Amino acid sequence: MKSQTDWEILKEMREEDIDLSEIPEVTAEQIARASLRVGGKPVSIASTTSGDLPPDPVLNSRTLHPLTLSSLDPNRREDHMNMKVVIAYPGFGDIKIETEILQAAGLEIEHVAATDTDEARRAARQCDALMVTIQPVEADLIRSLERCRLICRVGTGLDAIDVAAATERGIWVTYAPDYSIDEVSTHAIALVLAQARGLPGLLAATRRGIWNSESGGILHRFSDQTLGIIGCGRIGQATAAKGRGLGLNVLAYDPYVNASVMDSLGVRVVDLETVLRQSDYISLHSPLTDETRHLINAETLALMKPTAFLVNAARGPLIDEDALLAAVRAGRIAGAALDVLQVEPVAPDHPFLQEERILLTPHAGWYSEESKIDVRVQGAEEVVRVLRGERPRAPVNEVPSQ
Ligand SMILES: NC(=O)c1ccc[n+]([C@@H]2O[C@H](COP(=O)([O-])OP(=O)(O)OC[C@H]3O[C@@H](n4cnc5c(N)ncnc54)[C@H](O)[C@@H]3O)[C@@H](O)[C@H]2O)c1
Repeated sequence: MKSQTDWEILKEMREEDIDLSEIPEVTAEQIARASLRVGGKPVSIASTTSGDLPPDPVLNSRTLHPLTLSSLDPNRREDHMNMKVVIAYPGFGDIKIETEILQAAGLEIEHVAATDTDEARRAARQCDALMVTIQPVEADLIRSLERCRLICRVGTGLDAIDVAAATERGIWVTYAPDYSIDEVSTHAIALVLAQARGLPGLLAATRRGIWNSESGGILHRFSDQTLGIIGCGRIGQATAAKGRGLGLNVLAYDPYVNASVMDSLGVRVVDLETVLRQSDYISLHSPLTDETRHLINAETLALMKPTAFLVNAARGPLIDEDALLAAVRAGRIAGAALDVLQVEPVAPDHPFLQEERILLTPHAGWYSEESKIDVRVQGAEEVVRVLRGERPRAPVNEVPSQ
């Protein structure tokens, strides 16, 4: 068995110098002594060496990083025993992926499923990292965090997190900027296609036994039509490229985009009014900010063609829902397809559910089996990275190094 001194030496070694194969003296007894508590249950760190970690170049290597090393060192057990990650979302069916990665790094996990309960506030107060999806993380909660180093948004869309309050407290905010670009852009295009090909009407009529090519409404050729993109970031650009691939003309509005990027996609950057007036389909892809809240309102809806469709796979509050309902009912626009709403999940008595010309999907744009794994692995890895003292891969803010 290694002596105390050897452990001290191991602790000093740089992580790339340490390989599990070089410390065969780690005994079952040591592993048992280094067992952790995860979600209230004791968990052995034996899985660190079992090879069943997710396919990640960092975590799946046989290299020990400092947190893992400390979890093997009985003398340092108390340090990391006190490092707690609070997972404050219901889970993606479960929290197995997160648990496996965090547990392999020797971190304690508490799962509370929300941020707005007393239980969650109590748990978060003592956390070293807080993981959330769309749960609100407001200033008062942030100020109550006594030692949190990281608020990890497991996804994109930062509108529910008070980033300024986190920065003030020296807490990193991170997100997963690239995990579902393909999924959301395809979803937006699917919503465009559903309307462009009259699918709701065709499917419903056919089911009723009506065999009529024109039962989906008046349809047009894509090469004569225009898709307008509002917000030309990662997802907006991917949607624009897919629209171009389908033969649509594409216009875009984004006050902050470099027009040459859009130019290279064959997309013309214009002002908001031009997008609204000239597009047959308008797809929203901007973040929710003070500037974009109710960007689509009675005034902007009035500029759209009466034959135009609106698509929103970004954030619900970009649209004034009362104004949209009124515009659709009055025939001022042809319809809308929305993946996101002002309040989610949809209320059972929401008037959109009664309106045939408004299609709804349940915030499903991000989803594929692949993106579901990506986002959780990225989030958990980011937590490990920050808690072992490294800079996050995808920070939203800048805080002094700790
Ligand atoms: N439906 C889903 O499941 C799902 C999944 C992921 C992301 N989203 C949402 O998609 C949206 C876009 O995500 P992204 O990753 O492409 O973000 P991004 O940050 O890469 O791009 C956003 C773009 O919007 C632009 N923008 C900012 N203010 C604007 C304004 N006033 N008018 C027009 N454009 C403006 C920015 O310049 C930027 O180019 C976000 O709202 C995000 O929350 C939805």
